[in-house]
Amino acid sequence: MKLLFMGPPGAGKGSQAAKVVEHFKIPSISTGEMFRNSYQRGEELGIEAMRFIENGNLVSDEITNKIVKERLSREDIECCFLLDGYPRTVQQAEALDIMLKDMGTKLSAVVNIVASNDVLFERMENRRVCRKCGTTYHLIYKPSSKLNVCDKCDGELYQRLDDTHDSVKRRLEIYESKTKPLLDYYQKKGILHNVNGMQSFDEVFKDVLKVIGE
Ligand code: AP5
Ligand code: MG
Repeated sequence: MKLLFMGPPGAGKGSQAAKVVEHFKIPSISTGEMFRNSYQRGEELGIEAMRFIENGNLVSDEITNKIVKERLSREDIECCFLLDGYPRTVQQAEALDIMLKDMGTKLSAVVNIVASNDVLFERMENRRVCRKCGTTYHLIYKPSSKLNVCDKCDGELYQRLDDTHDSVKRRLEIYESKTKPLLDYYQKKGILHNVNGMQSFDEVFKDVLKVIGE
């Protein structure tokens, strides 16, 4: 099982990835999370990446491909993995194809989570994330029991630096111009599956399981 989750920012990739990871016990690789964790640890890579992320721009292909290549060289991904938010450009998709070919494997399915821009804005503006464990909440649809405190680890919840209105707008523009063309790339390979992301968490998950073949 070698999965790739695609879809515009806020569509629910991370939320569904967390469910799949729990269900199948497979490792997930989220480049956005890797950058945010590195920033939290005060590393140079994360600080440099955050300069692009907070304005809604993409981190360079060179840096992104490098961290993914390193991650894919670890043993735990030999049988299965879930990529969330990578690749995002044609250059990254080509780089990933080469990495996987060198590993003697390929993607088994690409799940594209679809949602309208209104829904995406609303989801990102109301998203809160745990500073400690990264669990994602939504002020209305998935609130924490105590305001601004993580249910899982008591960590503090915060609003992502790139969840401001302007940054979300920029991320959506970049998605349209740089990332959406990749859908065609995977459609041609015959592994693309669209899932309606504008349903409840569980309904989306049911559809995800259907297309990846439970
Ligand atoms: P990344 O972290 O990947 O962000 P993104 O793609 O913009 O996607 P999000 O994480 O915002 O949304 P999501 O689809 O995961 O939605 P979520 O499940 O959280 O990347 C961040 C940045 O890092 C990029 O902009 C870029 O700068 C950089 N970067 C990362 N990868 C890169 C790459 N490959 N190349 C270059 N740069 C890269 O859900 C959103 C909200 O909605 C949550 O509050 C959730 O609770 C709620 N929600 C989700 N599903 C539902 C539902 N079904 N019903 C109700 N609410 C829901
Ligand atoms: Mg995410």
